[in-house]
Amino acid sequence: MNNKSIKNICCIGAGYVGGPSMAVIALNCPDIIVNVVDINLQKIDAWNSDDLSRLPVFEPGLDKVVEKCRGKNLFFSTEVERNIRKADIIFISVNTPTKEIGLGKGYASDLKWIESSARQIAKFSRNHTIVVEKSTLPVRTAETIRDILESSEEISDFGTEREQKSFSIISNPEFLAEGSAINDLQNPDRVLIGGEEEESIDRICSIYKNWVDSDKIITTNLWSSELSKLVANAFLAQRISSINSISALCELTGANIKEVSLAIGKDKRIGDQFLKPGPGFGGSCFKKDILNLVYLCQYYGLHDVADYWEQIVKINSWQQERISSIVIKNLFGTLSNKKLAILGFSFKANTNDTRESPSIAISKNLLKEGSELNFYDPKVNKNQILKEFQGNEYEKKIKVSETAFDAAKGTDAVIVLTEWEQFNNLDWELIFQVMRKPAWVFDSRNYLDKNHLSKVGFKVWTLGQSS
Ligand code: UDX
Ligand code: UDX
Repeated sequence: MNNKSIKNICCIGAGYVGGPSMAVIALNCPDIIVNVVDINLQKIDAWNSDDLSRLPVFEPGLDKVVEKCRGKNLFFSTEVERNIRKADIIFISVNTPTKEIGLGKGYASDLKWIESSARQIAKFSRNHTIVVEKSTLPVRTAETIRDILESSEEISDFGTEREQKSFSIISNPEFLAEGSAINDLQNPDRVLIGGEEEESIDRICSIYKNWVDSDKIITTNLWSSELSKLVANAFLAQRISSINSISALCELTGANIKEVSLAIGKDKRIGDQFLKPGPGFGGSCFKKDILNLVYLCQYYGLHDVADYWEQIVKINSWQQERISSIVIKNLFGTLSNKKLAILGFSFKANTNDTRESPSIAISKNLLKEGSELNFYDPKVNKNQILKEFQGNEYEKKIKVSETAFDAAKGTDAVIVLTEWEQFNNLDWELIFQVMRKPAWVFDSRNYLDKNHLSKVGFKVWTLGQSS
């Protein structure tokens, strides 16, 4: 079958992955109608907002794509049943958080939303439907989906009509990184499509061939595809924990982590990507996916392999604890009666996503030591920040400011936790004037101009450099 036979796509889940990835399919496939559905009405309303700055996901370039396609071949709605019914292909892009209770708690992915999506598809779909796993999933999840779908592969009644349903399952994990999602989707390193039936694989390939070169489209069996996504994230996170572990050694030996990462990254076998030191990786994927990999290894009795990968997550938490302790030590060992400014709350620059942000863990450590915190982030709104601390004893010690300058007023230290470019261009002289002395800047991303800050009068700590 060719691309012409695909007329209608439905995606369940209008989140950080579902929204942008479907917008880019709609952009490149004007003949295909793409319906993105979500149970969250507020989110759908935001996707449909006339004011494109109110889209629920902030991604450079996303607003332009939505503006071009929305209402033409890209639609956002809560009408799950109707859109499943019309679809030739259904992408599942719901969230799969780490389980908080029960078997595998703290490690395994919670597949409750995958299961409920599969049940909805089983109930409402018609004729033959290709079901595509977009969410990152444990290996062999397709089996669960298949069991649910196959139990409804029978003649169903739709009013007076009776028809045979059938399904095929494809794994097509998404590799986009937040903040560069549109570029990643438009120019992917590769598109991975795993499945068992050639015809269904070909149909999914035909969508991507509208804008991706054929040699970048990799087809594999289902299980390789599911596992590759987990392993890709584990390898990326491993590099970050590796460089972060060395940042501590640099601080003690007089080496500079930036110089070390430049020097090792020039070796083609190592490469220069994902060698930026920082306050640890955040985001919805890395920690969850590694813990999921750890769980899988344990399940299959590979305990040493599980321990190996778990260490990546442990080093990540260690780095956050370490940075918190360094702040405390430099501020004379106590944060009681001190105010600190936290610049950056998203887990990386150019996104408004705060899931697993290092800012959260580090802020909580600092609050535990008795400090008050003033936050500023260019894209994360006040409620999103306050929500993180709601209901705990520290709620009253939090303030969110409209500018970095306001956040810094009256504080002893500015702690930069997200590498927003604008923090490099702040009027640091003015900021210095309104802070209590000695005024500190802690640069956990090693990207500010240390010489300039020192000249202004700040005491400066930079990750991965001896002071
Ligand atoms: C995705 C997932 O695919 C996850 O497995 C992957 O690791 C990261 O990317 P993401 O798009 O970031 O998750 O999640 P989120 O922004 O939370 O979006 C998921 C959406 O699915 C939410 O808007 C939620 O309301 C929706 N949803 C969830 C449904 O529409 N139906 C459900 O049954 C459950
Ligand atoms: C990641 C993967 O890159 C992507 O392929 C997958 O689909 C989803 O998970 P994402 O979490 O959106 O993407 O962002 P990424 O750029 O990978 O950054 C993750 C975290 O690692 C951030 O907190 C970032 O600040 C940190 N990071 C990244 C570093 O500390 N150093 C680096 O060199 C790179």
